[in-house]
Amino acid sequence: MSLKLSVIGTGYLGATHAACMASLGFEVIGVDVDPAKIDLLSQGKVPFYEPDLEDLLAEQIKSGRLKFSKNISDIADCDVHFICVGTPQVKNGIAADLTYVNAALESVAPIIKAGSLVVGKSTVPVGTAARLRDRLIEVNPKTDLAWNPEFLREGFAVEDTLRPNRLVVGTNSDQAEATLKKVYAQNLAEGTPWVRADLPTSELVKVAANSFLATKISFINAMAEICEAAGGDVTVLAKAIGYDPRIGNRFLQAGIGFGGGCLPKDIRAFMARAEELGAQQALEFLKEIDSINLRARQRIIELVRKDLVDDLNGKKVAILGAAFKPDSDDVRDSPALDIAAQLQAAGAIVTVHDPKAIANAQKRFPALKFADSIDDTFKDAEIVLHLTEWKIYRELDPAKMKSLVKSSIMIDGRNALDRSAWRAAGWKFRALGVSDNSQIK
Ligand code: UGA
Repeated sequence: MSLKLSVIGTGYLGATHAACMASLGFEVIGVDVDPAKIDLLSQGKVPFYEPDLEDLLAEQIKSGRLKFSKNISDIADCDVHFICVGTPQVKNGIAADLTYVNAALESVAPIIKAGSLVVGKSTVPVGTAARLRDRLIEVNPKTDLAWNPEFLREGFAVEDTLRPNRLVVGTNSDQAEATLKKVYAQNLAEGTPWVRADLPTSELVKVAANSFLATKISFINAMAEICEAAGGDVTVLAKAIGYDPRIGNRFLQAGIGFGGGCLPKDIRAFMARAEELGAQQALEFLKEIDSINLRARQRIIELVRKDLVDDLNGKKVAILGAAFKPDSDDVRDSPALDIAAQLQAAGAIVTVHDPKAIANAQKRFPALKFADSIDDTFKDAEIVLHLTEWKIYRELDPAKMKSLVKSSIMIDGRNALDRSAWRAAGWKFRALGVSDNSQIK
């Protein structure tokens, strides 16, 4: 008989996981403490922008396999319960806030049936899973808890969930592993690597992976600083070192750095946990990774000041991009929005464009000016900053855009635009990590 699954927490992770599991043929019920979210999801609508998800979700609801509920007791007869709630940074420090994970466990523990398995997918500080497992068994002795971290990227959530590059399962129980092998039978049949670990290792895999990715980005941004100082070009440097397969060319895009709801808070929470464990020295370097990342935002502001001759007051600045990365409407810890807000605070008149993230950006920074069209954003601008590398920005016609601005200065904060095309159209073009090499086309 097919397993019945529940998903607790229906944000990016949970909504995607629920829809994808239903598409594999499982009966799935998603629950959330936010009734508005459940109402939307029940109608087949996704409360955030994620390519492919809405179609999949609507299709699965129509099939009758996927349901959403505001009532936690509706999950009681499920066999496997995935905890997918958020673990944001605490307000007054760098640690992870475990309020939602703890609450999720407390809500499922007393109501689930004997023999069922709770599976944590949220990113948590090492040690959390063992504590939650003890608590679960105290409340409901004939159940078990395993950990199964999620590695999906926003913008590729469906693809990454259906075709993950590995599956990691933290458990000491063969029975729990066998249950999860049934859930992921299709991936296993397709040859997805399966790594069984103990609970702490499975929690650590996730934060180690995100720390490594953050380190790669900050490494290349540190090289960008050196290139600026020495007259080099970080884009050429990245390309050249990336040909070494031990280094690889991915995640070496220099620019304004990483943001979003994961990388920044995960490296900070990892440092906080290491300190609790007395192992803070091992992760001292992550402090530097964080500083390099935040410094990139200041460096681009310095570049603006250089080109606008110090005084930003009353200067019209156009910003392309508000989301923390393209193909997402997520503005959590977005470098683009942070830079926009800082320029505005310095007296500039800032107009921000983004194809999907304006509504979220407006909620966070209501005082910023937003434009629906790219042309309106460029109109009369004295400087343009490209801060989130949406495809539509790469497709702009530099000659046409030049006719709209007052002064044609472009700063590419993502090293993603075609420099020579913009320069050929008469733009003064600058980028992070690239010294003023206007003679090189
Ligand atoms: C990240 C990880 O990539 C996922 O594997 C992980 O599952 C997820 O966090 C999570 O913990 O849930 P995500 O936050 O969606 O995924 O975004 P990334 O694609 O990793 O990008 C993060 C940030 O780094 C973005 O702001 C992006 O613009 C920036 N970035 C990325 C660079 O500045 N340079 C690069 O070369 C690559």
